[in-house]
Amino acid sequence: MDLFRKKSVDQLVSESTPLKRTLKTFDLTMLGIGAIIGTGIFVLTGKGALTAGPALCISFLLAAVCCGFAGLCYAEFAAMAPVSGSAYSYAYLAFGELIAFVIGWDLILEYALQAATVSAGWSGYFNKLLEGFGLHLPVELTAAYGTTPGVTTYFIITWVLSIGINQTKKTNDIMVMIKLAIIVLFIVCTVWYINPANWKPFSPYGIYTFQPGSTQPYGIVPAASIVFFSFIGFDAVSSSAEETINPNKTLPRGILISLAVSTVLYIVMTLIMTGVVPYKEFANFIDAPVAGVILETGLNWLAFVVNLGALIGMTTVMLVQLYGQSRICYAMSRDGLFPKFFG
Ligand code: ALA
Repeated sequence: MDLFRKKSVDQLVSESTPLKRTLKTFDLTMLGIGAIIGTGIFVLTGKGALTAGPALCISFLLAAVCCGFAGLCYAEFAAMAPVSGSAYSYAYLAFGELIAFVIGWDLILEYALQAATVSAGWSGYFNKLLEGFGLHLPVELTAAYGTTPGVTTYFIITWVLSIGINQTKKTNDIMVMIKLAIIVLFIVCTVWYINPANWKPFSPYGIYTFQPGSTQPYGIVPAASIVFFSFIGFDAVSSSAEETINPNKTLPRGILISLAVSTVLYIVMTLIMTGVVPYKEFANFIDAPVAGVILETGLNWLAFVVNLGALIGMTTVMLVQLYGQSRICYAMSRDGLFPKFFG
């Protein structure tokens, strides 16, 4: 048994089974944006603003550049070996079976944990939104699987995925368009409330510094590491290679365009947020910075719409993460490194 047995690109491609090729550059870009824009922008910008001040937009740019390097690697690999396994298959190609096995399991855990974390936040958020209208969901839809004796809970996202790529694509495309529309609405409605005086000083903590008596670093670089989470997820796009039309061209485009669009939106949003609210005041709404900005503008109706946007954002993150996970399971089971049943 050779634990470091490698596969060639031709072998990987010849082993791929014919899945339906329906995804185009637009769908891949939507998948990428679906995975990228979620909880991060709605939650982490508060802590980010306290850490870097208005220069938080530079932190987002810095995080985007770092992700861009990874994105370019994914784009290059995806063009070279357009198969479903993403980094698992690339590891098989470069380092052999053992490392591929470890990377494959890493990815399965990463996607599962990320979807679980986001879904826990989603449930709390959704229930609160409904409670505002005096509504309560049946326990079948809220209980975690296996926690409530006698109750069968449902896995809605997994169900959408299991119907097939066409349904997944349509569901994701529609939700991402709504999410983007809500973000643009937030930008258009709040930009008029910017007070340029709030941008001075623009970078109160510089690149990296420690405040007297505090062990927590402040500045553009520490804030970039906080908001980095907001970019995680674009790699899931590369696991769609076997369902993509002309993957050599469309996959790199999908990955890089989704990163670019998200970066521009993040930068515009954070510039507006720190322009409307003095950065130190984000301490008052550290967990809900976007809601804090809306409160400052007095546009209360916008709060409901943006909450809806946040929920949809989290939903697409879960959808694309679980989509990526199912494709990794599929690729690994094809190689006999995961029970065939899951394939
Ligand atoms: N990038 C994803 C988010 O911000 C994980 O929710």
